[in-house]
Amino acid sequence: MSRPISAPRGTRDLLPEDGAAWGRVEAIARDLSARYAFERIETPLFERTELFARGLGESSDAVEKEMFRVSGAAGSEEERAEWALRPEPTAGIVRAFVEHGMHVRPGPLRLWMLGPMFRYDRPQAGRFRQFSQWDVEVIGDPGPMVDAELIELGHRFYGEAGLADVVAYVNSIGDGNCRPAYRQKLVDYFGAHEDRLSADSRRRLRVNPLRVLDDKDLDADLAAGAPRSLDNLCDACRAHFDGVRGLLDALKVRYEIDHRLVRGLDYYTRTTFEFFIAGRRGQQQALGGGGRYDGLAELLGGQPTPGIGFGLGIDRTVLATAEQGVAQPAETPLVAVISTDPGALEPRLRVAGALRSAGLRVRADGSARRLGRQLESAVKLGALWAVIVGEELGRGNVILRDLDAHEQRELPLGEVATTIG
Ligand code: HAM
Repeated sequence: MSRPISAPRGTRDLLPEDGAAWGRVEAIARDLSARYAFERIETPLFERTELFARGLGESSDAVEKEMFRVSGAAGSEEERAEWALRPEPTAGIVRAFVEHGMHVRPGPLRLWMLGPMFRYDRPQAGRFRQFSQWDVEVIGDPGPMVDAELIELGHRFYGEAGLADVVAYVNSIGDGNCRPAYRQKLVDYFGAHEDRLSADSRRRLRVNPLRVLDDKDLDADLAAGAPRSLDNLCDACRAHFDGVRGLLDALKVRYEIDHRLVRGLDYYTRTTFEFFIAGRRGQQQALGGGGRYDGLAELLGGQPTPGIGFGLGIDRTVLATAEQGVAQPAETPLVAVISTDPGALEPRLRVAGALRSAGLRVRADGSARRLGRQLESAVKLGALWAVIVGEELGRGNVILRDLDAHEQRELPLGEVATTIG
């Protein structure tokens, strides 16, 4: 016997028993996309590495450490890895926006996507190398109303998924106007305390000082004394953020200001946010996050166009619903179509087809086993009803058996669905 092969580390198989919980969460994402008037967009699972380097930043973890590189076939022009599996969808969506000249469409554009992302990170609970995100992007809307709308939408998603106690942590990290001075203040402040920084933070201080605030190992006192971006916003960024807060307050959206929320991708400007279960912030990773990226379209060769969006982690949302014991919806009852006549395959399929047309969930047994064995299998598979196909079909009838009550009766095929429903 040959050695079995296992799935790559950091990936998971979605097994049939997980399907209902996933399907429910994905269905909520699709449904909310429609209710909030987003339009679907799909971009490739791999893009040029340059797109991510430029969009997310050379020094972001996603690019520096976690990129899954993809190469072409041996001997091809693309043999050297110049593509990467997408670590996130925003760069690809904005690339598509620019490439297809979508700025001329009536806007703002509201786009959504649901699908797998790839990051070569160290796997741990809730952190996978392949994971799925529900992503929405609004391109061409300077806000602040849309910022509040997206934070409210994130809350609504978790609410409809059945999660209790979700909080949005919110911050503003300014823009090209005010960020350089703020950045310098951080360099000066942390530079004076370099001996208290982790090796990672010392490096970040040089390439992207805001990310020092993101360091989980940052000394608490040092963090508390650090200059805050909200105290260093220019007038326009301040007015924008006040606008967002005013709307969140008026709508009674649950949020908290987090001065250390800078996010790990370089494209962010102004509003940033992340969703967590309240009180679980230390132990648990974000359920979702997003923010504004007003400079990204221009950075990718397009017209200057404001943008904002979020990515909500499907894996972590499903895990959280399981942890909180959220009930799964009842499945529609299963009906098994079986027959006493081993040769009667076509009638079984015909009857199953008719029942499916009537909206029932049906498995047809194609075996030549005795009726009793077929009934046993049906029960094991979870069927509540069996439709027995026999000579009655000549009269347009079948036998409907209640597998719980062990009762059965003959009735017209057309009445099965109404009898069960
Ligand atoms: P992100 O914060 O990098 O943002 O990822 C968003 C969410 O994806 C996280 O909050 C988390 O739920 C999930 N996630 C990220 N990495 C993993 C992982 N290794 N395993 C499991 N789940 C993970 C973005 O990706 C931005 N593109 C969001 C955005 C859209 N900003 C503007 N538009």
